[in-house]
Amino acid sequence: MKPKVYIAKPVSEKVENYIAAHCDYKMWRGEENIPKDVLLEEIQDVEGLIIPKAKVDKDFIKNAPHLKIVSHIAVGYETLDTDLMAEHEIIGTHTPYVLDDTVADLILGLMLSSARRISQLDRYVKEGKWNKLDDPFFLSKDVHHATLGIIGMGRIGEEVAKRASLGFDMNVLYYNRSPRPEAEEKYGAEKKTMEQVLKQSDFVLTMVPLTDETHHLIGEKEFKMMKKDAIFINPSRGNVVDEPALIQALEANEIGGAALDVFETEPVDPGNPLLTMDNVVTTPHIGSATADAREAMAMKAAENLVAGVTGGKPENVVKELSHLV
Ligand code: GLV
Repeated sequence: MKPKVYIAKPVSEKVENYIAAHCDYKMWRGEENIPKDVLLEEIQDVEGLIIPKAKVDKDFIKNAPHLKIVSHIAVGYETLDTDLMAEHEIIGTHTPYVLDDTVADLILGLMLSSARRISQLDRYVKEGKWNKLDDPFFLSKDVHHATLGIIGMGRIGEEVAKRASLGFDMNVLYYNRSPRPEAEEKYGAEKKTMEQVLKQSDFVLTMVPLTDETHHLIGEKEFKMMKKDAIFINPSRGNVVDEPALIQALEANEIGGAALDVFETEPVDPGNPLLTMDNVVTTPHIGSATADAREAMAMKAAENLVAGVTGGKPENVVKELSHLV
């Protein structure tokens, strides 16, 4: 008998066939996200769950007495209560590596868009307006040869450093617990204190996972340390930043602008003041959203799922739970 699993979002035929070869499965085929009550119902008799992101807490676990693995189709896993999962011997997996280049590309896009005001001027042209020669309004900020400060130099940070250094001749500074010798050697990245990164960078990028330590890592004090024309870029998690402090820093012209793919509350509240600021570029949490990256993530998650329910060793167990395999 094949192990029972639930697929909580529609996946491609290729991914579905792979799961079908190893598991007895049901799949949520709705276009909208699976409603919580349906999910809680469906997990009651399964050993494995594949899902973009699940909040695995007491309530969830109570409903899933046979669950052995939650396979996330995402790299961030702050929604998993790893202590509780370990207690119940449930493995959690995520999908690192396959999205690194894709997210790094978006970050460069956000940086260019905010520095050169591409989205703002796109709206301008579409309103039938045009450039006036040397009007300071049109004179934006160079990206090439500027200084990029990366807070959290993981795999994605390194891909950004590569693009910034080799493609745009940028100086790369970084703040990270451990040194990244490869980034230093290949891309000339320099390890600095957080304060040095904040004070010296033209672009400040936060690329850390959300944990108790990184919650509101960037707040009033940090914005005050940044250059007056610094552009702050956050494609990681909204809660890494104290959003009211960011709004305040932008309103008081303490920084030059921001580019945000994530918000403290998602979907973002339409009344959020950030949405009315011309010097803020926004995207709706789409860091890994290309067809190829999402397919690779789903396949990786499927492989982790199948390994987890067939007695194998999933490749991408979140590190807090790696003692379970
Ligand atoms: C996206 O935010 C992810 O964690 O993969």
